[in-house]
Amino acid sequence: MRVLVTGGNGQLGTEVVREFGRLGHEVLAPLPEEMDFLDPDGLAARVAALQADWIINCAAYTQVDRAEDESGQAFTINRDSAGRLAETAAKTGARMLHVSTDFVFDGKQTRPYREDDEPGPLSVYGCSKWEGDRAVLAALPGAIVLRTAWVYGVHGHNFVKTMLRIAGEGKPLRVVDDQVGTPTWTADIVQAMVALVDAAASGVFHFTAAGETSWCGFARAILAEADRLGFEVKTRTVEAIPTSEYPTPATRPHYSVLDTHKIRPWLASPIPSWRDSLINMLKELQACADCW
Ligand SMILES: NC(=O)c1ccc[n+]([C@@H]2O[C@H](COP(=O)([O-])OP(=O)(O)OC[C@H]3O[C@@H](n4cnc5c(N)ncnc54)[C@H](OP(=O)(O)O)[C@@H]3O)[C@@H](O)[C@H]2O)c1
Repeated sequence: MRVLVTGGNGQLGTEVVREFGRLGHEVLAPLPEEMDFLDPDGLAARVAALQADWIINCAAYTQVDRAEDESGQAFTINRDSAGRLAETAAKTGARMLHVSTDFVFDGKQTRPYREDDEPGPLSVYGCSKWEGDRAVLAALPGAIVLRTAWVYGVHGHNFVKTMLRIAGEGKPLRVVDDQVGTPTWTADIVQAMVALVDAAASGVFHFTAAGETSWCGFARAILAEADRLGFEVKTRTVEAIPTSEYPTPATRPHYSVLDTHKIRPWLASPIPSWRDSLINMLKELQACADCW
């Protein structure tokens, strides 16, 4: 199969390119400058010319706080270009998997969010992604919209690497304890993508690791597991603070756990717990000199 991966140099996209290549697919992963999501018309023309069987859209404007000041760019990339990709797929007969986020929800629920729960984004980023989901499904009703959350992996910048860096320098850590979600490893997301693509699924799916924690709980687990694996960890404690003590330009949901019941029957194996996946990611990071 000819698979176009947009955002193929991002933290998730890098993993997607690697896995679909390993599975023997012909993978096309143009650099952002070759396929600019700030130019939806140019993007559509370039994508049509590539004649892909599948488009996996991992490109996104992901700077959640900066988006509050750059809403034009966020909406162009996350809504307009995502929608144009889907329109192009509809014209060329390609299938499409579009990646979305838990930040489409307002976090007021006390049970995990299902695919049919009404979104209510709190930030520009969340709004732009939610409108992107709708634009994709309007143009290509058979598309897959895969919502995930709290993504980390060995490639790119993320919370795990930030915690390891700070703990390695022995600096104090104060981390919010009243935002609850599910840390999710890129390698697990890619396995879910492969399963959905192989089965030619369609519609909205939620996928995260199993379980839930706060950012503070996640930070404590990172330090504990990294220490056990032999990383240099000089900071021993993480102070739990409320969101009010760590103000950010964008408002984040207090609770954004995603319900994964719908996707489970499609998967080849049970969903791992977030802590087991964290350990596996740390082992991979330890073995990868180029990943820092
Ligand atoms: N990170 C999370 O915690 C999280 C949580 C839930 C869902 N998601 C979703 O997961 C998907 C992948 O996110 P990620 O974590 O892998 O983010 P990422 O590392 O920031 O990757 C985003 C990708 O989009 C590309 N991109 C940005 N602006 C572009 C433009 N104008 N034209 C073309 N490409 C452009 C980036 O290229 P450059 O790096 O060269 O700019 C990068 O390859 C996104 O849909 C995101 O909304 C992420």
